[in-house]
Amino acid sequence: MKLSSYRQSDATTINLLFKRVFSDSEGPAEGALIGNLVLELIETTQPEDIFGFVAIEQTIIVGCIFFTRLSFMTPIDAFILSPVAVHTSYQGQGVGQKLINFGIDTLRKKGVKLVFTYGDPGFYAKVGFRQITEDVVKAPFKLTHPEGWLCQSLDDTEIEAIPGNVNCVKALNNPRYW
Ligand SMILES: CC(C)(COP(=O)(O)OP(=O)(O)OC[C@H]1O[C@@H](n2cnc3c(N)ncnc32)[C@H](O)[C@@H]1OP(=O)(O)O)[C@@H](O)C(=O)NCCC(=O)NCCS
Repeated sequence: MKLSSYRQSDATTINLLFKRVFSDSEGPAEGALIGNLVLELIETTQPEDIFGFVAIEQTIIVGCIFFTRLSFMTPIDAFILSPVAVHTSYQGQGVGQKLINFGIDTLRKKGVKLVFTYGDPGFYAKVGFRQITEDVVKAPFKLTHPEGWLCQSLDDTEIEAIPGNVNCVKALNNPRYW
């Protein structure tokens, strides 16, 4: 399996991957929603505010992940992991964890200090995330599942409280995702 940065020219394939994977796991409405989200992320996010990576098996994209910038009142280099998908027939073979670790290592090398995500604490604990509260760092919107607000420090320092509000990129700036 090869891991690399995504290319804009793969947008349609990536859209279909997310649409299929999330339809399989959570139904067609969620598939359509997340498929559209990744297209919007690719099309509307400034290049310096987005990282995307793909897992390729025999020329086929079997997994994909996006990280986009979170901006605070203080200048902190922070990104949020969202979303990630592994083709349904490739799940449970370690592809997801390899893709997440590859993305996080790349961000660390670029000087990113904090990575957030919003998801299953049990799964994301396997790749270094831990739960934080909205008192420590606010999310862009009030969270429906506050137990899913997760963070990891990329420079071995403790996660400290960040005062004030936080902004996400345009494509994620919608309460339905939170
Ligand atoms: C979540 C996902 C990316 C993980 O990728 P993967 O390649 O299947 O994961 P890996 O094989 O690296 O890791 C599997 C481990 O994670 C656990 N796991 C996988 N999906 C999980 C989930 N949604 N919740 C909790 N644990 C999960 C498995 O139980 C397994 O644990 P084990 O190693 O102790 O047996 C993939 O299953 C997927 O695309 N799911 C549908 C879309 C989704 O839910 N995306 C995440 C939200 S954006």
